[in-house]
Amino acid sequence: MLTKTVTKLNVPGPKAKAILARDHVVVSHAYGRVADLVMSHGLGSQVYDVDGNRFIDFVSGIAVNSTGHSHPHVVRAIQQQAEKFLHISSDYYHEAWVRLSERLDEIAPFTEEASVFLGNSGTEAVEGAIKLARYHTGRPYFVGFMGGFHGRTLGSLGFTASKITQRRGFMPMREVTHIPYPYEYRPLLAMQPGDADYGETVVNYLEKVVFKSILAPEDVAAVLVEPIQGEGGYVVPPASFFPRLREVCDQHGILLIVDEVQTGMGRTGKWWAIEHTGVEPDMVCTAKGIASGVPLGGFLAKRSLATWPVGAHGNTYGGNPIAAVAALATMDVLENGGIENAATQGAYMMERLGEMAARHPSMGDVRGVGLMVGVEFVQDKTTKAADARLRNRIVEVAFEHGLLIMGCGANSMRMIPPLVVTRAELDEGLEIFEHAVTIAENELL
Ligand SMILES: Cc1ncc(COP(=O)(O)O)c(C=O)c1O
Repeated sequence: MLTKTVTKLNVPGPKAKAILARDHVVVSHAYGRVADLVMSHGLGSQVYDVDGNRFIDFVSGIAVNSTGHSHPHVVRAIQQQAEKFLHISSDYYHEAWVRLSERLDEIAPFTEEASVFLGNSGTEAVEGAIKLARYHTGRPYFVGFMGGFHGRTLGSLGFTASKITQRRGFMPMREVTHIPYPYEYRPLLAMQPGDADYGETVVNYLEKVVFKSILAPEDVAAVLVEPIQGEGGYVVPPASFFPRLREVCDQHGILLIVDEVQTGMGRTGKWWAIEHTGVEPDMVCTAKGIASGVPLGGFLAKRSLATWPVGAHGNTYGGNPIAAVAALATMDVLENGGIENAATQGAYMMERLGEMAARHPSMGDVRGVGLMVGVEFVQDKTTKAADARLRNRIVEVAFEHGLLIMGCGANSMRMIPPLVVTRAELDEGLEIFEHAVTIAENELL
C-alpha cells in the first residue's frame, strides 16, 4: 500500500536542468553522481535545490555534515577565523591547530598519548598512517580487506577493494594482501567447529592460512581495517573479530590501523566505532565528519610510534586554520548532544527499519550502529539473491519524493543523516523511504 502524505516533486526543475547541462560539458565525467540534485542551500538535516524543492538528508554529503548544514556555531567559528587569517602553512604555528590536536589526543581511542598529523582528506589520512607504519616497523607488507574502501590515491587505493572500476587501469600498490571481511550475511569462508563467531573464522584464516602459505607475519607492517565497512555495504563485524585480530597483531608485532573516516566522530554513538569493540588500535584515521564539510583529515598514532624525523612527512595545508576552527566547533556540537542524539535516533531508526523489513520481501538485512545504518536488498529472503536494480530504483524514487539517500556495496542502501537529525525529520525520511521501497517492489519484484 502506498502512503498518502508523500508527494512527488518536479525534479530536476528548470534551473537545475540548466546547471546540469553546463556541468556535463566541463566537470570531469569521472565523478559518479547519485541524483540530479543541484543544491541551493541547506538547514540542519534539510536540503533545498535551486528550484526550491526540499529534501530530507539521509546522506550528509557522505557522512560529512555531522552537525547538519551550516550549523550556526560552526559557521560563526569559520567567519571569525576568516576575518583574522585564512592560511599560514604548516611551516609556522597557530593556536587552533594545537588546540584541535590536543582535543583529538583527549578522545584518541587508545590509552597512550597521541601524535596527531592533519591533512585535507580521508585518503591523505590513510597515506600518512601507512607511511608511518612502514617507517616505524621497517616492514614492507600490509593486510587489507575485501570490500574495504580507503581512498583513491595510489597508496590507499592499494587497500581499496570495493569496486573493480576503482582499481582497474591504475596498477595500485601490490604489497597488500586482501582477506575476506567478516560479512556474516554473505560469508566467503566456512566457519570451523569451535569458532566463536564468523569474526573468529576470518582471523583464523589470516593466521592459519595466509600467514602460513603466502605472507610471513614478520614482514607485515600493519593491518588496515574499517571498524564497520562503509562503501563495502555497511557491514558490522561480529563481536570476536576485533579482539582476535588485536591478539594476532600483538603476537607478530603488526600494527592495527583503524580507518574511521566514515565511522568516526560520533556517528556510531561514540567518538570512534572501535570503542564498541573494547579493542585499542595503534593508529586511527579520520576525516569526513570531523569538520562539518570543511576539508580536513588526519591520523592519530600512539606517540611512541611517531619515530619519523622532521621532514619525513608533511604538507602545505596541514592544520589549516579554517578547517581547525570548524573541527573545534564541530566537536563542541557533537559533545553537547550530537553523539548522544546519534545513539538515540540510530536505535529508533533500526527499530523502525526492522518493522519495515517485516513488511517488505526485498529488505533482506538491516544492520548498523548509531546513525550508520544499512539495508541490504534482495530478490527474496530465502535465496538472498542480491538486487542492485531494486536498490538503485529506490534511490531514484526517494529523490523524486524529497529524500536524499545513497547506495553502498553491491546491493545495499546506507542511511547516514546528520548527527543532529530530529525525530520528525527521521520519520519524514523513513516514510518517503518506505513509499519508494513499495513502488520499486511493485515495479521490479
Ligand atoms: C573508510 C574510508 N576511508 C577513506 C575514504 C577516503 O576519503 P576521501 O574521499 O576524503 O579521500 C573514505 C571515503 O569514502 C572512506 O569511507
